[in-house]
Amino acid sequence: MERFSTVFLIAGVAFFGVSVFVMAWMPFVHMRDIPYQPLEQVSQEMIPEFAQLAEMFPDAFKRYYPAGVTPVSYAKALRLGRDIYVAEACWHCHSQYVRPVSNESIRFGPVSVAAEYANALEFPQLFGTRRVGPDLIREHGKHTNDWHVAHFWNPPDIAPTSVMPRYPWFYEAAPTEAEPDRYVLNERGIAIITFVQWLGSWLEEYPATLYNLNAAGAR
Ligand code: HEC
Repeated sequence: MERFSTVFLIAGVAFFGVSVFVMAWMPFVHMRDIPYQPLEQVSQEMIPEFAQLAEMFPDAFKRYYPAGVTPVSYAKALRLGRDIYVAEACWHCHSQYVRPVSNESIRFGPVSVAAEYANALEFPQLFGTRRVGPDLIREHGKHTNDWHVAHFWNPPDIAPTSVMPRYPWFYEAAPTEAEPDRYVLNERGIAIITFVQWLGSWLEEYPATLYNLNAAGAR
């Protein structure tokens, strides 16, 4: 037994060394030369969907984002959107990482690369470990704002077998005489849709995946 305890001790120290090398040193070496983008920089290039949200919900937008469609409002919405994503535990069901295995690139677009995570909104990254719903890192342009507005209100309306919960607190009542039950997005709703639409917006165009190939076939 004495003999074995020495072997276990050496093996334990060696495995500890290997894990520090693989999980600390290798990522550090990988990331250190990639320039980090603070939020002020990320928000300079606005996605068209943000301006469209301002057009769709002018009153709510003006109230919560008084600076209008500017990088300042955009940064505010992105930051809040990310905070909501964390607080609502969206990461519990969604990953933000296309892995180089299982032909994931066919389903979700190109395999994720380290540079995509070197910015304020992905630091710390939100890779996630479960995939009850689809990966979201290539979400930009996959669905319209209208789609998201209807989906967060009640996912089964859009995807009948969906287990995603409803998020009625992303909306506020805005009744009119003609439409007494009218609801519009509130500050959180605008923020979460902005954040989700931002994910993957750094790609030139929505990648060819099973999703749009199927859609093209169905047309
Ligand atoms: C209980 C698990 C669960 C949680 C929590 C959850 N989702 Fe989902 N989500 C799903 C499932 C399952 C789908 C696929 C069916 C559908 O479209 O509803 C989905 C679909 C989506 C889609 C459409 C994806 C696509 O590419 O078609 C988006 C965007 C999305 N979720 C965002 C969110 C956000 C943001 C949150 C947090 C506010 C969230 N989800 C919380 C399970 C979840």
